[in-house]
Amino acid sequence: MAKRILVVDDDPTALRLIGYSLQQEGYDVLTAANGLDGLTQARQLHPDLVILDIMMPDLDGFEVCRRLRADPATRRLPVLMLTAKGQVADKVAGFRAGADDYLVKPADPGELVARVAALLTRASYAEAKEARIFTFVGAKGGVGTTTAAVNASVLLAKGGHNVVLAEVRNTFGTACLQLNIRPRVSLGRLFRERDSRTGREITGALMQHPSGLKILAGPQQPEEYLELTPAMVSSTLDALRHSAEMVVLDMMSASFSPAWREAVERSDFVALVTEQDPTSLAAAKMLLMLLKGYGVPPSSIGGLIVHRARSSTEMSALQISNFLELGLLGVIPSAPEECASAARLGSPVVLAQPTAAISQAFAQVAERLSADPVILQQF
Ligand SMILES: Nc1ncnc2c1ncn2[C@@H]1O[C@H](COP(=O)(O)OP(=O)(O)O)[C@@H](O)[C@H]1O
Ligand SMILES: [Mg+2]
Repeated sequence: MAKRILVVDDDPTALRLIGYSLQQEGYDVLTAANGLDGLTQARQLHPDLVILDIMMPDLDGFEVCRRLRADPATRRLPVLMLTAKGQVADKVAGFRAGADDYLVKPADPGELVARVAALLTRASYAEAKEARIFTFVGAKGGVGTTTAAVNASVLLAKGGHNVVLAEVRNTFGTACLQLNIRPRVSLGRLFRERDSRTGREITGALMQHPSGLKILAGPQQPEEYLELTPAMVSSTLDALRHSAEMVVLDMMSASFSPAWREAVERSDFVALVTEQDPTSLAAAKMLLMLLKGYGVPPSSIGGLIVHRARSSTEMSALQISNFLELGLLGVIPSAPEECASAARLGSPVVLAQPTAAISQAFAQVAERLSADPVILQQF
């Protein structure tokens, strides 16, 4: 994915010149001719960097910058201020408003692209340092694992985190259906043709969802099905770790395969997704034993209870937590109508129905995951 730069300037000539210099360097360029449009685009299109003029009619660059910094979705966006004003007082005001760098117009194209590249590199280091891997794995198939991974990831991305959702699977993954995304290159395609890929090839397969979430799709067609190896998983996680701040894995169900083991051993946190019926709970207990046997510390595992069906014999969160001897990441209420309608729309329930009880529960899960270390409900 080429880096995307948003240029906000009321002067059409400046927009054209700056846009041209950046395109020559391989960047994708978005433009806005006023401050309000710039803010809207920054929030909705998730650029990697903003170049911001100061003197504009409606909202000036200082105010746009302050508003970007006040919104969690754009708080970390690198901002380069670009203006005809060259006074020291303006530079100071720019930095006070939250700018990362400053350049006086007319800027030399070489210096402009060098500063853009430096800011992007610095931002990628800041992200790489924080990258954490959260693995969602179901006690068994069909308990709501993909739904949970997708909805939590979307909320984390909307909260301003740089998040990749990756389907680590040998066969068909359904996350793209839930997000209404048609991937060009899936994990299956990447590794079907060759068993090793560069970081750039792996991140090149990422797709962007309107929420800002990036997705690495699992196999889509039968001809892309494959047997993942530990080396494939390891190179994928290495690449994603350096291109994001959080990596969420929608993991295939527990298998005794070396690739599965590689993924859980490299995870910073495992969300064990289960329903509360006796079969699922028994499977959850087995999975927990397996995880502990692989050396995953119990404090890095949290139960995520999904009530897919309403049941008159529902166990309480306390009872489930005691039975599994496990802290809980959350409890997701039953919401068959909401889930069915989200599936029809191709829009995760947290976006389609943000105020529904199920969406509130996913919001709490996202909030607990964004704390470091992850917060678990202990009883
Ligand atoms: N809280 C819930 N209430 C009702 N239905 C749910 C809930 N969570 C998930 N589902 C539904 O359960 C089915 C399986 O979900 P999915 O996330 O694909 O499970 P898995 O990834 O574990 O196979 C889907 O039809 C989904 O819409
Ligand atoms: Mg699934």
